[in-house]
Amino acid sequence: MENFLSTAVEIAREAGALVAELFKRPKEISYKRPSDLVTNADRRSEALIIQRLRNHFPGQAIVAEEGGGAQTSSEYCWYVDPLDGTTNFAHGFAVFCVTLGLAYRGEVIAGVVFDPIRDELFTAERGSGAFLNGQRIRVSPVNKLSESLLATGFPPFASNHDLNIQFYFRLTKLSHGIRRAGSAALDLCSVAAGRFEGFWELKLNPWDKAAGTLLVTEAGGRVSGLTGGPFQLLADEVFASNGHVHDEMCSVFSEVMAEYRGAKGKGEG
Ligand code: IPD
Ligand code: CA
Ligand code: CA
Repeated sequence: MENFLSTAVEIAREAGALVAELFKRPKEISYKRPSDLVTNADRRSEALIIQRLRNHFPGQAIVAEEGGGAQTSSEYCWYVDPLDGTTNFAHGFAVFCVTLGLAYRGEVIAGVVFDPIRDELFTAERGSGAFLNGQRIRVSPVNKLSESLLATGFPPFASNHDLNIQFYFRLTKLSHGIRRAGSAALDLCSVAAGRFEGFWELKLNPWDKAAGTLLVTEAGGRVSGLTGGPFQLLADEVFASNGHVHDEMCSVFSEVMAEYRGAKGKGEG
């Protein structure tokens, strides 16, 4: 697959080093809208990544969170999150990463997620497995929701919070618990690495999930919509699991959703 992955790794490492260096310095924070933060690190990391991608792969499309990308007529498209975990970064909570996913005709074929704090590099190419620092990783063998550790996230604005709080409430009681660590790309990598059995989120952008969902499927897991329908990179929701607890969790999502909609219909929600 040409040198897509090796180049993406080089770029993610360089951007990750920059972000880690800026993490030690006073942060320059501004707001895109209330609770939606952006820092100088997001912008500098994105500028670096885009410049490198344009040098290596001129003409390929780039969709990047801070708006520096551009569509082209190419069938290749890079999805770039220059800093996933911005709120953590801004508060000095060291959970964040840089992630790049490459799609060909809409299907993700290569992905990299780099956590510069833990020096963890997650990589995958379609059909070739998932790796952490060069070692093959696989999803966990746990097959009961009651023995699962889960993760979710909430977008930095309020829509969908109420429904996700209902999922959170129900699944907390049915599992070993739910982590909300603040970086969707790293959450997905934790499913791929067998640390979490499942992760879901209701409103993510393609740059948050392109690389991480490929990691999960290449590690033997399953990625879908919340109720088991096909995964769509450009859709908001994502549900990724080790595969073994997938159906059980889909049933919980369906039940909670039906109850939530019923309650709203009666004016209780
Ligand atoms: C956010 C993180 C977070 C998720 C939010 C994302 P950002 O991305 O991935 O975990 O819950 O929905 O927007 O803004 O830090 O790049
Ligand atoms: Ca993100
Ligand atoms: Ca980001």
